[in-house]
Parts: sequence; structure tokens; C-alpha cells
Amino acid sequence: MPSKVFSAALLGLEAKIIEVEVDCSYGLRCFNIVGLPDQAVQEARERVGAAIESSGFQSPHHQPVRVLVSLAPADLKKEGSIYDLPIALGYLLAAEKIKFDPSGKIILGELALDGRLRPIKGVISFATLGQEKGFSQLILPKENAIEAGLIKGIKVFGVENLKEAIDYLEGKKEILAQETKIEDFFQIPNYPIDLGYIKGQESSKRALEIAAAGGHNLLMMGPPGAGKTLLAKAIPSILPPLSFGESLEVTKIYSIAGLLPQEKPLINLRPFRSPHHTSSEVALIGGGNPPRPGEITLAHRGVLFMDEFPEFHRDVLESLRQPIEEGKITVLRAKHSLTLPASFILVAASNPCPCGNLGDPEKKCQCTNSQIRMYRRKLSGPLMDRVDLFIDVPQVKYEKLASGDEENCSVKIRERVEKTREIQKERFKNEKILVNSEMEIPQIKKYCQVDLKSQDLLRKYVNSGKLSARGYHRVLKVARTVADLENSEKISFNHLAEALMYRIRED
Ligand SMILES: Nc1ncnc2c1ncn2[C@@H]1O[C@H](COP(=O)(O)OP(=O)(O)O)[C@@H](O)[C@H]1O
Ligand SMILES: [Mg+2]
Repeated sequence: MPSKVFSAALLGLEAKIIEVEVDCSYGLRCFNIVGLPDQAVQEARERVGAAIESSGFQSPHHQPVRVLVSLAPADLKKEGSIYDLPIALGYLLAAEKIKFDPSGKIILGELALDGRLRPIKGVISFATLGQEKGFSQLILPKENAIEAGLIKGIKVFGVENLKEAIDYLEGKKEILAQETKIEDFFQIPNYPIDLGYIKGQESSKRALEIAAAGGHNLLMMGPPGAGKTLLAKAIPSILPPLSFGESLEVTKIYSIAGLLPQEKPLINLRPFRSPHHTSSEVALIGGGNPPRPGEITLAHRGVLFMDEFPEFHRDVLESLRQPIEEGKITVLRAKHSLTLPASFILVAASNPCPCGNLGDPEKKCQCTNSQIRMYRRKLSGPLMDRVDLFIDVPQVKYEKLASGDEENCSVKIRERVEKTREIQKERFKNEKILVNSEMEIPQIKKYCQVDLKSQDLLRKYVNSGKLSARGYHRVLKVARTVADLENSEKISFNHLAEALMYRIRED
């Protein structure tokens, strides 16, 4: 009799149920897997055969049986080694070597040749799927049990090897369902770099606060050693902690990327990613085969810091345009397109020219005009139009540098940022967004009304070509955040003027 057990496949952050059907018949020895399996799934035949033998049963490879494994739905590509365990159990069930009821159970796991189970990726997505589809049990490698247990409403059973899975399913061995206490994994955030460590730079700190409060993108320009990298690294210390919902979302991403530490299966700190400027397009935006989330997805709900911004490849910079606008990235695959979230604060840093001395009153710039032009070209155009706050980070004077420490200045700023985020949460409670930077045109119309004097100022900049249509909308969003920081319902002229000051570059 053919058997049918349930497993699952990942599609981006979401998962889908896969039915694993196995048919055994007497005949010439053969073992086929159909249903768009990739190479790793095909190789399950070998792993499954060896693991079955190591668990005390006869391998199908040593008997006169024809085994046909069908993975349904057939048009969905199946990847990786997670089907080893369901295939092995399905075979033993179809061959009537074991007996159990597979209904209501999702089974996943890679088998080693000796029958041990190896951990898999994307477990939270699988547990969420099972819970949503009304499955009662999730059976997977023991190492993944704690992580899967973060999702309530489905019982999680971690097993060490094929034999243990069989004994559990046949009722010969009792295994306790995983109990994961979510509170145990909430880490108290610690911030290695406090804004208080950075002397002077008051206007940069103000801009950082606005960026953190409303989720706006930022570019810092200044000579080497002025503190740009340090400022960027201090941003996590002024961002509010992740909510539980956001935590799960970020954890899912790190789980499918295989970057989740087993002993700390919940991420509740905002991501801070700083890819090197030699990074490829795939590393940055994601993709490849099998597809992996890129840096922009790993930075979701946090910060993407691009140091030495003009040194990134032009194609890489261009590929950022669409995700910055949409807060997500669509990677095209052979048959399907895959959409991953990518809502982050872009923080870019740049020297004023390749040698870094341009504009310095003391040091002479070594660059030729064309070198400067080439360098600056990357700092203009459509991508830069998506940056909301341009700030100059000058060299600080000795008196400031040598002054005493300002203790924990980040705490106060973080409190203001959190308050401002609360205002935004309340404002957008019926919309699908969290922060001002995510507003689209109808929301901008609704929430970003400005007075006549402000309109006159905006008109002047738009008509003189200094502000594009996109820039106009972005300025209004920043002005909204500036007003929110003062808990002001209305956007005043001063709020707007401050927002414009960060936007307009006079060079
Ligand atoms: N404003 C500042 N206050 C305190 N230390 C600073 C400041 N600016 C720079 N530094 C020191 O200089 C080092 C280099 O700064 P960095 O952020 O790497 O500069 P940049 O990225 O602009 O080249 C920092 O690690 C820090 O020790
Ligand atoms: Mg630097």
C-alpha cells in the first residue's frame, strides 16, 4: 500500500506543505524520486538507504523492490536534504516494516548515514505553517526543537535519530513535547558603542536621532577619522528594542539563512549589518541557487551600514533602488519569484573625495578633478534621491575631543525615539506600516499637511530644481518625524525647514 507522510518546503520566509508519497512494489531493484527534486533531494536515496540499514532494517537497495517517491505538489521545486526523514519513514511504512498514523504530523530532517539526524534551516517558518494549517505535531531533529518551540499551538518533538523517530511514532518510546519559554531567550540589549563616546558632532547626533525615530535614510560625509564609522555603530543604541512580532520576523530570516545560534534561537536585538564595499550584488540583495537572503534582508527592521559608500560597485548600488523604495526584494527564480522583506535604515558614509582631504583647510587634496567627479557621481542620481538626511561630519577640534565623557547619552535619546515610535504606531494602527518613512503618497497627503509659508518654501526649491518630486515627498516625511519628536500634531515651518536643511546639498 502506498504511504503518505507530510513534510514542508520553504518559499522565501513562508513554508508550504509537501506530501511525500511512497509506493513499493516487488520487482527489479530501483529507487526513484519524482516531483522536481534538486540534486540534494535525489541524493536522499543513498542517505536514506544507509540510515535505514543502520537503524536495524533492511535497506531497499538490497532487496528486489521498486520504490517510487513522489513529492507533491509536483510543480514546486524541492531543495535540500530535509526530506530524508519523511522519505525514510514513508518507505518503511509503505513496505509495512513499521506502523503509525502519519496524519496531523509534519516530519522534517536530514539523515546521516548512521541514522542520526542533522539540524535543518527555517524551522520557525515550518512551525508557523503547521500551526496555521492545523497540524498537531512537528517532528524534527533534536537540535531544532528549542527554536521550533517558540511557536505555540503545535507540539514539537525533537528526535536524535531515525530509530528514535520510529520508536516514538510506533508508541514504543515516549518523548516529551518541547517546552520553550520565550522569556528565557529575551536578551537584555547591550550596546557596545554609546553616542556619549563621540565628542562634538551635535548636528550629526541630531540627524541620527531623526533617522532612528522615523526610519529615514542617512548619508554622512566627512574626512577620514572624523568619526563617521563610530557614529554609525552607535545607531543601534538609540533604536528601540524589537517587538515580539518583529523579533519572530527577524528570527525567521536568520533561521532560513542558517545564521541562528542554536542556543539563542530568538533574535530580539535590531540587526546591524555592514557589508564590505567589495560585496557582490547577490551578497547584498540576495538570490543565488538555492536562494539566500542578502544583506538587505538580514538588515530588515534594523540598519544597513554601507561604509565607504562610493567604493561599492555601481551595479550593486543601483540594485538597491527598488528595495529601498518598497521595503522588500523580489528575487527571480527559474519558475517562481521569491519575495523577502527588506525594510531597513540605510546609513551610508563617504569621504569627500578619494584622498579624503577635499575641503580641509589644513591638508591639500591630492585628487584630480576627474577623480573627484567620478567619485561624486556615485553620490548623486536616483539612489541618492532616496537618502533623506545628508550630513557633514567635520573633524572635531582638540578641546572637544579632550573633554570629559558624557555618560550614557544614548539612553535619553532612545527614550525620545521610543516615544516618537509610539506616536507613529498609534497613527498607523489601521495601516500596514510602523514608521513615517514607510508612508506612501495617500498617507503623506493625510498626515503631512504644512502651512502656507512652508508651502512657499517648498515651491521655491521644487521650481528651482533643487528638490525632485521624490525629494519633496521625502522631505515631508522627515518633517513629520521632526514634529513627532516634539510631540506636535502640526508640522510647523521650523519643522519643515529643519527637514529641508538635511536634504538640500548646495554643492
Ligand atoms: N568625535 C569623536 N569623539 C571621540 N573619538 C573620535 C571622534 N571622532 C573620531 N574619533 C576616534 O577616531 C577613530 C576613527 O573614527 P572613525 O569613526 O573610524 O572615522 P571615519 O569613519 O570618519 O574615518 C575612532 O575609533 C575614535 O577613536
Ligand atoms: Mg570610517
